[in-house]
Amino acid sequence: MYYNYTIMKKIKNTLLTKTEAEINENSYIMALESSCDETCCSIVKAGRECITNVVASQIKTHTQFGGVIPEVAAREHLETVNYVISQAFNESGLKPEDISAFSATAGPGLVGCLLVGLNAAKSLALVYDKPFLGVNHLNAHVCANYIDTDLEPPFIALLVSGGHSQIIDVKTYEDYTILGETIDDAAGEAFDKVARLMGLPYPGGPVLDKLAREGNSKAFSLPEAKVGEYDFSFSGLKTAVLRLVKSFEGKELPVNDICASFQECISSTLFKKTKKALEQSGYSKVVLAGGVAANSGIRNKILSLQNEGYKVYIPPMKYCTDNAAMVASAAYFSKTFDNPDVEVFSRVKNLLSV
Ligand code: KG4
Ligand code: ZN
Repeated sequence: MYYNYTIMKKIKNTLLTKTEAEINENSYIMALESSCDETCCSIVKAGRECITNVVASQIKTHTQFGGVIPEVAAREHLETVNYVISQAFNESGLKPEDISAFSATAGPGLVGCLLVGLNAAKSLALVYDKPFLGVNHLNAHVCANYIDTDLEPPFIALLVSGGHSQIIDVKTYEDYTILGETIDDAAGEAFDKVARLMGLPYPGGPVLDKLAREGNSKAFSLPEAKVGEYDFSFSGLKTAVLRLVKSFEGKELPVNDICASFQECISSTLFKKTKKALEQSGYSKVVLAGGVAANSGIRNKILSLQNEGYKVYIPPMKYCTDNAAMVASAAYFSKTFDNPDVEVFSRVKNLLSV
């Protein structure tokens, strides 16, 4: 399908620009997201108005393995993708002909999983003779903040997901500078690993967050890594928790207090560095993005910046974790349009590239 699509587009010479594709404030974009363990399809009007947001989670499947098995996830995406697409059309009352462009996450993510959403969206674009746009998943997480809001750049974004932790200077819709990032584990990875070493079930992050609310965040003092101004390092913190857990061998583990102390440590590091970047930038707006933006400790800390006069944007839970509405929004705000040559990629190139 990939080759057919590209060749046909080239023969017809119909690689469109955004204006030619008539992407404007009346446009509906359909997006698919299948980078990890959720099969999602959304339709978003003009990058901000979410018409429908269908999410089929694979959590039940992967819980029995204690984590995501890429091959199993890819097969489940294949079984579910047609269902989420028809559900999006049914819920919205829109027809394929009403869609101005089709888009999908191209990466980073699990290659076998990405291929399912990308090829489904390319097929729809080909069949209905519409433009196609491959989207960078990390940029999509940032763009989740445009949905149902009036947010416009410039702003500072704290992007915290399962695979990435970055502080970004978002100058315009298409001009990002990464000010700092993790030098080892991502924030979500740290949550998941710490949860696992305490014997908590998959997915670790949300479970740890829930238990932390019952614990004392001052019970244990955990180390904050000393790295570059806006960089992060969470592997030392993870090792400190491991030592702490081992020190309780043969005794009852104070799980809630460890969760609360860990969450406090990680969220205060993220908060301090984001605040510093915000002060340095002179911007008035700060944005939280990525799956870990669902964490109550981090949300509360970033939200407290409101008390200092900053405008804070935090997506509702449904747009924090993986969803396709953010992908449709990223497609809408993208400068390039109709890139049928795009292929899936597993690792990040930069925040905007596909
Ligand atoms: O953004 P995301 O859905 O996937 C990637 O793009 O990587 O983020 C998934 C990550 C997982 O590590 C998960 O444990 C974490 O987000 N997460 C949380 C919470 N909800 C999801 N971490 C801490 N607290 C939460 N409430
Ligand atoms: Zn994600």
